[in-house]
Amino acid sequence: MNRNFTPRLVLFLAFLSVITFAGCNIKGFFVEPGDDPEWVDPDAQNVANADAGGAVAAGGPGAAVYTKICAGCHQANGKGVPGTYPPLAGSELLIGDPVKPTKIILHGFKGKIVRSGTTYEGLMAPWKDALSDQEIADVLNYVRTSWGNTGSNDVTADQVKQVRDETATRSTGWTEAEL
Ligand code: HEC
Repeated sequence: MNRNFTPRLVLFLAFLSVITFAGCNIKGFFVEPGDDPEWVDPDAQNVANADAGGAVAAGGPGAAVYTKICAGCHQANGKGVPGTYPPLAGSELLIGDPVKPTKIILHGFKGKIVRSGTTYEGLMAPWKDALSDQEIADVLNYVRTSWGNTGSNDVTADQVKQVRDETATRSTGWTEAEL
């Protein structure tokens, strides 16, 4: 090989690798995770997957209804959002006579309530048209026995149907006093 050529080749190769390296760095440095529409926070995704997977494994069909409909407000861990969505974890109303929470799911719930010293004055929508008697029984059995709740898990579709029939003329959400 030509003696004068070798140093130039080495120099050229060094130059090439600097360019390549800088290229990688610039991409890693300037492309923020949020700029990429496909970007999903892996930590958040793992938590969501674990919650969904754990819930389905633990709770049967009611867990699927809960994840799809209720968790958006009452949260996957049942703790709600303080001051906005009351917790289902530890709710006395929920684990007591199943008729009350059945009425709430069918027709909704509104007005001032106080839970663990926190005041809520929100509005829960009715689910009578979106959920079948069986789905309501399933989700009730799930929430009554999740997150340490000690309610019974023997609510049946027939029981839900009975409450549905008895309250058929109801057209607005209940207040706590009306339940
Ligand atoms: C859009 C938000 C939202 C969704 C979805 C929702 N809820 Fe609620 N829920 C609320 C709010 C708000 C209240 C409290 C209403 C009030 O302040 O009077 C409530 C109250 C309750 C209560 C009464 C708790 C207590 O201790 O008084 C139960 C039980 C309940 N929800 C169950 C469910 C179930 C089961 C589902 C799914 C089928 C569900 N909710 C879906 C917003 C929601």
